[in-house]
Amino acid sequence: MPDLLPHIGSPKKYIEPFGGSLSVALNINAEEYILNDINQDLYSLYTNVDEKFVNECKELFTDENNTKEKYLELRKLFNTIKDCRERAKLFLYLNKHAFNGLSRYNSKGEYNVPYGRIAKDSKTGEKKINKAHFPEQELNHFRDVFLTQKVNFFNTSFSDKSLYQNIGPGDVVYFDPPYVPASETASFTDYAKEGFTYDQQIQLAELAESLCNRCAKVIISNHDVPTTRELYKNAEIYSIQVRRSISANKTSRKKVNELIAVYQ
Ligand SMILES: C[S@@+](CC[C@H](N)C(=O)[O-])C[C@H]1O[C@@H](n2cnc3c(N)ncnc32)[C@H](O)[C@@H]1O
Repeated sequence: MPDLLPHIGSPKKYIEPFGGSLSVALNINAEEYILNDINQDLYSLYTNVDEKFVNECKELFTDENNTKEKYLELRKLFNTIKDCRERAKLFLYLNKHAFNGLSRYNSKGEYNVPYGRIAKDSKTGEKKINKAHFPEQELNHFRDVFLTQKVNFFNTSFSDKSLYQNIGPGDVVYFDPPYVPASETASFTDYAKEGFTYDQQIQLAELAESLCNRCAKVIISNHDVPTTRELYKNAEIYSIQVRRSISANKTSRKKVNELIAVYQ
């Protein structure tokens, strides 16, 4: 965040097409926000966070619901119900009880992350259940920030032109896409496994250049590897080190090189 925020500054319009947790949008000050993610459950979460919703979510975070059996029962329920608001509540519950806070779906679109609150006691080596954090403060902060400002949420692909209507000088587009593989030996098929292809990485770099030609400032985050250096060869490149927070093996949560590409 300290490396990224100075590049974003305080834009007139701020556009974040790969919104995810919206952690970046929550930390900047813009006059207007266009916030998007292709994940429908995330979009439902963004658009349903009112006081009643927060209270109803809180009811799911009990000790009784923090067991593997109950988690699997609620995961099954999530995968069968259609109501977006109910799904958004369960999505939050699943995310906070899932292994490593992952969000992953199988090819049928079913959420399939295993239960993740079982840990070993560091002293006795015995298995114990860790409490799940209910993000009440974070949800309320989200409401405070986005209910009081001019915000439009979208649920579409980054390539959808409607996200970039009327952008121009003073506006900033920040792209934080699914990353290319960190290892140079990984094959291109790995991109598809992540659900984001190499062709989409190229399409994104081309879109960034075209938006910059409309005088908006465009920023992209990604791994710092030869592929991305080539993709963003027309941008200014800033290399940074970031500690990985998602890895099955705690000892492999090393610092990896990432880059910030800036088109202006
Ligand atoms: C690296 S994460 C973004 C992280 C975010 N900056 C944060 O702070 O949490 C990438 C996001 O892109 C979304 N995504 C994947 N493919 C997409 C696409 N084609 N169009 C828009 N969003 C997409 C995923 O659902 C995911 O939330």
